[in-house]
Amino acid sequence: MHLEGKTALVTGASRGIGAACARALAAHGAAVAVNYVSSREAAEKIAGEIATAGGKAVALQADVRDAGQVRRMVEGAARALGPLDILVLNAGPSVPWKPVHELSQEEFETKVLDEMRSFFLPAQSVMPAMIARRTGCIIGISSGLSRYPAFGFSAHTTSKSAVDGLMKSLAFELGPHGIRVNTVAPGLTRTDATAHMPEDQVRAIAGMTPMRRVGEAEDVAGLVAALAGDECGFVSGAYIPVSGGIQMP
Ligand SMILES: NC(=O)c1ccc[n+]([C@@H]2O[C@H](COP(=O)([O-])OP(=O)(O)OC[C@H]3O[C@@H](n4cnc5c(N)ncnc54)[C@H](OP(=O)(O)O)[C@@H]3O)[C@@H](O)[C@H]2O)c1
Repeated sequence: MHLEGKTALVTGASRGIGAACARALAAHGAAVAVNYVSSREAAEKIAGEIATAGGKAVALQADVRDAGQVRRMVEGAARALGPLDILVLNAGPSVPWKPVHELSQEEFETKVLDEMRSFFLPAQSVMPAMIARRTGCIIGISSGLSRYPAFGFSAHTTSKSAVDGLMKSLAFELGPHGIRVNTVAPGLTRTDATAHMPEDQVRAIAGMTPMRRVGEAEDVAGLVAALAGDECGFVSGAYIPVSGGIQMP
């Protein structure tokens, strides 16, 4: 229970990697705000499971691309749970899978700008209180594709590279205020977002991976929960893959 007494907000926590992060943080003792945009029932189920297990959680609706909604979500989380210690920037827009020459300007811009809004706005919104308390931990969920491009993923590689740049800048600017900022880079992870991938493609990626499998949401959540703890108190500005060794920066 190394997160006992801490509070966390996880964006996009109704499903997939975000839901696993919310569960893992709560399992280690943190009180957790479970953000969602449309899956109210799923988010309330996660919060309910945490409460049933003896923890504290609240489900909060907000589109993380919208500054006003983000501000209300952060205020709501602090009201329900107390001042925030941990922010997991997880929610991101879906991935347009197309070679560059088929990608429209609108598809490209929407992916990149929505991703940036989804990371910039919640980070900026939690900062004043974290700075005032001289403590905080921000974890951004990037992607292995930010450093290792793959065919058809140009918009995703671009937007996640921008996420990495933002996280490094945050680590640089917030370190003197006692706030740590790190980037977690999952490889292929089984969630709704990747459920459409043909199984032979998944098997091929597993076969090229030193650990001989693809990721599960809990693999990412395990690192997030570890990074959130004071045991990692001198880890900031890091970019850590969760990819079974297929990506070694
Ligand atoms: N899966 C992978 O292989 C993989 C690999 C590398 C990186 N990642 C990154 O990991 C993160 C999570 O991916 P995932 O695979 O877990 O996705 P997912 O299963 O599709 O879940 C997406 C989550 O984000 C929420 N969400 C989406 N847009 C939102 C918005 N505008 N405002 C608030 N919440 C929003 C969804 O809420 P609702 O349920 O309400 O729609 C849902 O909880 C993303 O940043 C993704 O790029 C994933």
